[in-house]
Amino acid sequence: MAPRLISALAIAVALAASVQSTVAQTAQQQSVLQQIRQLDRDQLSVSEEDGRFLRVTVVSSGARRALEIGGAYGYSAIWIGLGLRETGGRLTSIEYDPARAKIAADNIRRAGLSDVVTVISGDAFQQIPKLEGPFDFVFLDAWKRDYKRFLDLVLPRMPPRGVLVAHNVVNKRAEMGDFLDAILQSPELVSTIVSPSGEGMSVSVKLR
Ligand SMILES: C[S@@+](CC[C@H](N)C(=O)[O-])C[C@H]1O[C@@H](n2cnc3c(N)ncnc32)[C@H](O)[C@@H]1O
Repeated sequence: MAPRLISALAIAVALAASVQSTVAQTAQQQSVLQQIRQLDRDQLSVSEEDGRFLRVTVVSSGARRALEIGGAYGYSAIWIGLGLRETGGRLTSIEYDPARAKIAADNIRRAGLSDVVTVISGDAFQQIPKLEGPFDFVFLDAWKRDYKRFLDLVLPRMPPRGVLVAHNVVNKRAEMGDFLDAILQSPELVSTIVSPSGEGMSVSVKLR
């Protein structure tokens, strides 16, 4: 390969690495995030790219009252929490499995985000009606066949300009056709689909 091409490729790789900003997280937070991924044998957690996308979306929307449905071990909650640290907001993350919820709360504490993120153990269908709204940022990452029912539950409790992000809309789209039809056809929403790492996330903004 020609030396000039090699140096151009080296610069491109360096640029690609440099756009993954680490400024907004401490070494301890990076270490907790890495540990969660290493121990996550079922690969429940979102990818690092998707986590970074969540953080950017939270900061750019200025969200202050966030809700996560399906928290698992706290990986995505930490990324959302890092965004909320910038906006002054708070996240409630709901996780069905009590053992996972306990691990998530511990990971969030070790990441120094207990003042930003609260983990609730329980079924989100039962817990959400008990929570104070409105929710200006919702991250949906529970079982995929439940997405449409969760949309129906949270959309009335979102303000205009509220943002709803749903995970796995590319790699598991066959399990959520009703949800995708609803967000793409709703006159209440503008929606798009992005795929930072192949699993896909829908991003919907409530218009009115
Ligand atoms: C894909 S994992 C979530 C991963 C997490 N968002 C992350 O990236 O770190 C899905 C989780 O949703 C939880 N879950 C499924 N249905 C739920 C429900 N109705 N209420 C609360 N949690 C639920 C499961 O127990 C599982 O841990």
